[in-house]
Amino acid sequence: MGLYSETIFPWLLDKALGHPNIMARRRALVSGAVGEVLEIGFGSGATLPFYDRAKVSSLTVVEPSQGMNRRAAAGLAQSPVPIRSVPCAGEQLPFEGGVFDTVVCCLTLCSVRDVGQVLAEVRRVLKAGGKFLFLEHVLSDDPDRQRWQHRLNPIQKIVGVGCNLNRPSAHLVQAAGFQLEPLPAQEVEYAFGALKTLTPLVMGAAIRV
Ligand SMILES: C[S@@+](CC[C@H](N)C(=O)[O-])C[C@H]1O[C@@H](n2cnc3c(N)ncnc32)[C@H](O)[C@@H]1O
Repeated sequence: MGLYSETIFPWLLDKALGHPNIMARRRALVSGAVGEVLEIGFGSGATLPFYDRAKVSSLTVVEPSQGMNRRAAAGLAQSPVPIRSVPCAGEQLPFEGGVFDTVVCCLTLCSVRDVGQVLAEVRRVLKAGGKFLFLEHVLSDDPDRQRWQHRLNPIQKIVGVGCNLNRPSAHLVQAAGFQLEPLPAQEVEYAFGALKTLTPLVMGAAIRV
């Protein structure tokens, strides 16, 4: 629970990921959420304003970082939908199986300790036919870019508190037994200057079959 990971990094992340490009993509992602919704890796709550009361009956958010939960706390009172916040990690969700219509994951699969276990948990808690909505930066399809992503990953893991530049998250979702709907945005870049090369974004919806 160091000063960097619990105080400085949450602040930095809000600055870096508050970019209008990212906010527009968060809005698009969350617009697909319906019914009983779970969001994993809620961070400081940047997606919260985009949940639609007309479509979402309740929102449960999970986040293991105390620093993130502290930053999110003030926004919870302004939630447009009924919300409960559970301080835990996605690898071990304290919920019954088959209870959520939608699970949302925004720029989080890159950072979880065990992505296979998180996806297994997402699958377990979703109802059959439920949707997993994800927005992630991923391993590029381009070999030159991949080389840089692998090279810089050890540094990114330190600076980004466990964030990986080189996770093929969309492929991992498919491998976890979901049926991918056509992805609305693949290999879309965000961030600035040279960082663009390192962070192609994928946004998708996957059905729990
Ligand atoms: C890059 S931030 C994104 C936060 C937020 N989703 C957003 O869009 O701003 C990644 C988040 O994943 C959280 N995280 C890290 N490991 C996790 C885990 N095992 N389960 C759930 N969330 C985790 C981090 O604490 C952090 O809040």
